Amino acid sequence: MEALMQSSPGARTLINDRWRDYFAGCGYLGLQSHPALVQAAIETLQQYGLSTATSRGGFGEHPVYQHVEQTAAEFFESERAIYFVSGYLGNTILLQGLQGDYEQIFVDRDSHFSVWDGVQNAGIPVTPFQHCDPEDLSACCRAKLRPGERPLVITDGVFPISGEIAPVRDYVDALAPYDGAILCLDDAHATGVIGEKGQGTLEHFGVQGKGRYTTYTLSKALAGHGGVIAQEATVVEKLVRNSTVPGATSPSPLPAAAAAARALELVRGDSSLRRRLWANVRHAKEGVRELGWPVANTPVPILCLGARPGLDLARLQSELFARDICVAHVTRYSSTPPGGALRIAIFATHTAEQIDRMIAELGALV
Ligand SMILES: Cc1ncc(COP(=O)(O)O)c(C=O)c1O
Repeated sequence: MEALMQSSPGARTLINDRWRDYFAGCGYLGLQSHPALVQAAIETLQQYGLSTATSRGGFGEHPVYQHVEQTAAEFFESERAIYFVSGYLGNTILLQGLQGDYEQIFVDRDSHFSVWDGVQNAGIPVTPFQHCDPEDLSACCRAKLRPGERPLVITDGVFPISGEIAPVRDYVDALAPYDGAILCLDDAHATGVIGEKGQGTLEHFGVQGKGRYTTYTLSKALAGHGGVIAQEATVVEKLVRNSTVPGATSPSPLPAAAAAARALELVRGDSSLRRRLWANVRHAKEGVRELGWPVANTPVPILCLGARPGLDLARLQSELFARDICVAHVTRYSSTPPGGALRIAIFATHTAEQIDRMIAELGALV
């Protein structure tokens, strides 16, 4: 199916010349055309132009990037934050930056491509463990770690297609026997969305603390661009010192960076968007469960409708599209279940009527 997006993505999106109910992508808070973000981008564009055209190590340091970092540190309640060009690179920065603090890597098999790229670049022994399986993680640690060795465990916090939350509390227990163990989460789909304050998966489980690291993206729910890691000042300094990425990449375009900072300010002071999102998620999940898909009772705004005998998911997606309802049909992305899935993304800005119509049309088609 060829699709051309002709408006800002939101609950209603213009695609192929028709306004449609849009349940795809990652704009979970519906901020992509928020007037305050657009205004921040315009003002920055007028004042500073598009980019610094150099990395931040030399003359590329800029008040806009410093403002993103200050705002992110406040949002995630940390001493400091580092802002870099793409959430994708956050895992590489963590794994390079923390070298010397761990001897072996353990990675969830179904982790995102960015996690695997980071792992493969680290040049440290790697053991994959079964997806979302703390017992297998424990078994792998027991089998591989020599006395005194420190494990680094890395996984998506929220998986992009399956919508599962990694069982992080159980991972913390599995790592308890190992002094200096490190847990790293890629929270691209949890940033601003999961946890009372939107701080992500560690906050959701209440297990923030020493040796626990998260990489965030500002390009999805927060409608900006780039990635962030928020930590103690000494850790941030170490990441900048040890990783090749921050000094060797051009940072995000200035208007997008300014919009991201504005988004962080907006959702820090006000949890109403998150609450509306979670209410919509609850409502949509109830409907999908009634159609026989067992989606987990979590605030994750991703509903994964797996394959069923006799059901053609590609046809289902195109029938919904013909009724002006957009959902993704995924067959190859990381964390896609066997047989593919329809991925339904819920936004804070969807109306109950839109969700009801999507469920009703889906129900009529299955
Ligand atoms: C789990 C995960 N991590 C990282 C990324 C990349 O983030 P960014 O778009 O900020 O590079 C994605 C993007 O889709 C993702 O799904």
